[in-house]
Amino acid sequence: MANRLCIVLDFGGQYNQLIARRVRECGVYCEILSYTTPIEKIRELAPDGIIFTGGPNSVYDETSPHISAEIFSLGIPILGICYGCQLMAYTLGGEVESCEKSEYGKIEIQQTGGALFGGVPEKSIVWMSHTDFVSKLPEGFTVKAVSADCPCAAFECPEKKLYAVQFHPEVTHSEFGKQILHNFLYEVCGFTGDWVMDDFIESTVAKLREQIGDKKVVLGLSGGVDSSVAAGLLSRAVGKQLTCVFVDQGLMRKDEGDFVEDTFTRLFDMNFVRVNCKEQFLTALKGVTDPEEKRKIIGTEFYKVFWDKIREEADGGFFAQGTIYPDRIESGKGNESGNGSTATIKTHHNKVEMPKDISFDGVIEPLADLFKDEVRAVGEKLGIPHELVWRQPFPGPGLGVRILGEITEDKIKVLQEADAVFRDEIAKSGIESELKQFFAVLPDVRTVGVMGDHRTYEHLIAIRAITTDDFMTADWARIPYDVLARVSNRLCNEVEHVNRVVYDITSKPPGTVEWL
Ligand code: XMP
Repeated sequence: MANRLCIVLDFGGQYNQLIARRVRECGVYCEILSYTTPIEKIRELAPDGIIFTGGPNSVYDETSPHISAEIFSLGIPILGICYGCQLMAYTLGGEVESCEKSEYGKIEIQQTGGALFGGVPEKSIVWMSHTDFVSKLPEGFTVKAVSADCPCAAFECPEKKLYAVQFHPEVTHSEFGKQILHNFLYEVCGFTGDWVMDDFIESTVAKLREQIGDKKVVLGLSGGVDSSVAAGLLSRAVGKQLTCVFVDQGLMRKDEGDFVEDTFTRLFDMNFVRVNCKEQFLTALKGVTDPEEKRKIIGTEFYKVFWDKIREEADGGFFAQGTIYPDRIESGKGNESGNGSTATIKTHHNKVEMPKDISFDGVIEPLADLFKDEVRAVGEKLGIPHELVWRQPFPGPGLGVRILGEITEDKIKVLQEADAVFRDEIAKSGIESELKQFFAVLPDVRTVGVMGDHRTYEHLIAIRAITTDDFMTADWARIPYDVLARVSNRLCNEVEHVNRVVYDITSKPPGTVEWL
């Protein structure tokens, strides 16, 4: 079934991906295209709706993005947002001026009806961010909303199916923004909301097959959500043409390496290459206690092993990775898909260049336009196990940042066991979905205890659980006492060499999530 399509035409604004996300949340398939896309191409795609995004420019600036007036006569409904709204007015003969007073932030508007405002109260709050405004409408348009400083906060020409809003309906601060987008998509464009993640999977798989042809693809699989879902998609598209390289440095959680291997070899068609290199890491880390040095060593060793394996596997073809949209924002880059042979590799705290002597025909990032929750939805549809799809963030250096002091095989074992007990109790407690991250830490501390008749001198385990929206700030989770009590009991009884447990009650700031 051909998807009915909405096109988000990108004029360079900061919320473009968010618009696409909101459209998809409405159950409507959409793709983002540059404003430079030729009109013939748009005609060919025959979208059922087009949304012009915002952008930082002024329509009078010669270098700012413009578009041929022809687009307004295709008969396709168009919604212009912010710069897109000004561009629509300007291109069709209206006027745009600089505001006497820029509007920025939450602003009250008053609407006077029209298709966009069905179900929206007469007065509501929207998110504005503009220094230009539409001062005169093109012929045939009428104003449908105003704010104290903006006489054309929304306008329309229903005969031509053209609509525009000066504010940002895609931002959650716009109280009824979603309703307004929904109205445009359903009432104006006639979408019915039948697009689901199945359609994304189908169209992506088809595109991947076309792009990859009979070449090979190599993917670095970490066992995290993103690379796992990318692996699932690529496996569905090209099966055995895909090789996943999974480096197990011995610092993962209990049984995690086996679980990842088992999942991808049992459930998916692909070549799975696991590199076990715990010994190499332990040797490199011997005697090292400084946190930053540890991190550096783990990173360096990891990429040494990883690139060596990739080099072995590279045979022309493509290099794939599980970059998702927020990674692209963080690194300030656009989509690199298909950009020759060098790539910046996704890591949390640093960027890594692919060694010059490894070459691929291109880079594939099948999840580059998705947000985390969409990636998870795709993962579930692909049949990736719940444990992987809903995996909490786990740092690249693994348990290496959770063992203070020197990292030894014995300490890894104690921490893996302790962490597994803690996770098991949280899973049973029913509070797991309230926590964003929870784990055990092994401080380099032994304490005196008593067990039976004799004294012990064993490890202290710290447990950490946080709630957060964005990991930039976080609060310690108010885990019920009875859950803490069970965790403490089990840790001391079941995990060898543990005789004391503390709960970390530090928020971020001043603490960080991890201890190292
Ligand atoms: P912090 O400790 O910086 O953690 O408050 C914030 C989030 O980042 C994760 N984290 C890391 N992830 N490599 C990673 O891939 C690292 O070196 C690293 N350090 C922290 C941490 O688990 C939390 O989710």
